[in-house]
Amino acid sequence: MDMVIQPTGGLRGTVTVPGDKSISHRAVMIGALAEGETLIYNFLPGEDCLSTINCFRKLGVVIEGPAEGMVRVIGRGLAGLQEPGDVLDAGNSGTTMRLALGILAGQKFFSVITGDDSLRRRPMARVTEPLRLMGAHIEGRQGGRLAPLAVHGGKLRPICYNSPVASAQVKSAVLFAGLFAQGDTVVSEPHRSRDHTERMLRHFGAELEADDKSVRVKGLPRLTGQVIKVPGDISSAAFLLVAACVSPGSDLTITGVGLNPARSGIIDALSEMGADITLQNLREEGGEPVGDIRVRSAVKLTGVKLGGEIIPRLIDEVPVLAVAAALAEGKTEIRDAAELKVKESNRIASTARLLSGFGASVEELADGLSIKGVRSLNGCACESGGDHRIAMAAAVAGLLASGQTLVRGSDCIDISFPGFKNVLESISL
Ligand code: S3P
Repeated sequence: MDMVIQPTGGLRGTVTVPGDKSISHRAVMIGALAEGETLIYNFLPGEDCLSTINCFRKLGVVIEGPAEGMVRVIGRGLAGLQEPGDVLDAGNSGTTMRLALGILAGQKFFSVITGDDSLRRRPMARVTEPLRLMGAHIEGRQGGRLAPLAVHGGKLRPICYNSPVASAQVKSAVLFAGLFAQGDTVVSEPHRSRDHTERMLRHFGAELEADDKSVRVKGLPRLTGQVIKVPGDISSAAFLLVAACVSPGSDLTITGVGLNPARSGIIDALSEMGADITLQNLREEGGEPVGDIRVRSAVKLTGVKLGGEIIPRLIDEVPVLAVAAALAEGKTEIRDAAELKVKESNRIASTARLLSGFGASVEELADGLSIKGVRSLNGCACESGGDHRIAMAAAVAGLLASGQTLVRGSDCIDISFPGFKNVLESISL
């Protein structure tokens, strides 16, 4: 599908964005392992989270919905999953595959998990290696580096794992496996990644301690079903934030957005660039910080240098942040972000290609991007390459460019932001 974007005269009004993808996945998975019923409100009905529901249905879990934003999971308890009669399909979703692997490793049955072309190219050794250290038997292409992966689940032992990457997917896979091992499993990482798993496990009754860079979970907890209200996804809000910051005449409020500090790097980075962003109505819901974000057109955005601890806090927002950087005054440098190469696409290359098409001045670095701001972007025809965040970054660039933009292959947007075009149309002047 192609999407046509016309330049905007600013974004105005009050909107919500769909539920958080990371939290929606975890609510289904942890709900499946809990005893009793879990009700999930504002569940993201994007394709990635539907893949998680489908996988857990194949594991014998009764899951109703999503219907009007609600999902009901009838938990089977820690020992209640059943051998799937068929291959589990994680679709495009790295979170589904990596987190599910942690759970499958601890089961007394055999399972196979696969995904689409993009996911079958993404690195899985980062989870199969620690899971093997815990005693899991996992086979797959290239010695278990690539899916499809076959898991002979069984008894696991706890480990202290020093992850070489700051990845919530790796951390969560090990923590999930740790639920099935007697004793304490500890994961540390070079920088803190998103901690939704930790927060939600605690909310369901697990014993868990965390400090700056490490987390310890006690195995064999009793998890109890909960009511979860999923906050709006800050990664989806980011597209609207950038469009509103850059276009003159904007005054937009996005209500009920998750503001977990491990995810809010985009607000810090845009603010440092000179954005006019205020947080309102701050509260906590289900163990997650939530609030409303008001964003008005910035007087001027200036380039910044980003690297180190902020990178995992805005890793999914780099493509759209790069659009803001392309129109900022001066140079922006994003370093320490080599992880971008192993996302749904190689996002260093795909972001650079995208921006170049719009006439931006961008250079690929081994671990990030260097972007020199230009006065204006020119609308163009561009390709999503099947990457939802590239498609939406392209749409935002199109809103801010002169002339018309055509985004080819925009259907992948449904992976994380169903209704994106309607939301844009409802707020764009
Ligand atoms: C996610 C973690 C991040 C992020 C992905 C979702 C999660 O990946 O890029 O979109 O839900 O845990 P890594 O943890 O591998 O960096």
